[in-house]
Amino acid sequence: MKFFIDTADTAEIRDLAATGLLDGVTTNPSLVAKSGRDFIEVVQEICEIVSGPVSAEVAATDHETMLAEGKRLAGLAPNIAVKVPLTPDGLKTCKALSGEGTMVNVTLCFSPGQAILAAKAGATFVSPFVGRLDDISTPGMALIEDICRIYAQYPDFKTQVLVASIRHPMHVVEAARMGAHVSTMPPNVIRQLFAHPLTDKGLAAFLADWEKTGQSILGDDKKVRSVSHG
Ligand code: G3P
Repeated sequence: MKFFIDTADTAEIRDLAATGLLDGVTTNPSLVAKSGRDFIEVVQEICEIVSGPVSAEVAATDHETMLAEGKRLAGLAPNIAVKVPLTPDGLKTCKALSGEGTMVNVTLCFSPGQAILAAKAGATFVSPFVGRLDDISTPGMALIEDICRIYAQYPDFKTQVLVASIRHPMHVVEAARMGAHVSTMPPNVIRQLFAHPLTDKGLAAFLADWEKTGQSILGDDKKVRSVSHG
């Protein structure tokens, strides 16, 4: 499963990119507004930090302007994935851009029917928003399961299921169980995936017992300062 980070905060992207676990980045107009930065500038910086796909969303709603915006965004860097909404004009733009070899991420997907249309339009990624469905008492992960099952029936569908609007680690785990290709998640969810109290407790016990041996793997002159785990 690919891990994308869902933010336009370049400090967070740099920090998590350093783990070597990041495969891409997704942004949207709300995340860019939250960053308080110039859109083109922040997208270009993100594309320099992460070599994987970086989703940058058009702001227009009509095909002609979406296409022009999409071409401008695609020209910013080779790893740009142009994000378009799942509307008739958005899919028309998806078809045109993907036909020119541009990666397209079709976003704001909330039904299996919409996901079929995205695949037919040649989308590189489709972004079903699981958290927003959960927010209205509709099982978001059931949509992911449905889309994965439908896509598996058609080998010529090349669209990757990019699970979005993730709220917690179990969305990621369940998406992986279903075979979704990508999870895009806020920085805190990635960090939550690492965390387990028994890991911390076990490591503290190992370090305490190692300390008692008085030994050093690197040799006494290069002894690494023992890390105390509270
Ligand atoms: O990539 C889409 C994601 O940013 C939407 O998340 O939390 O606004 O539903 P959320």
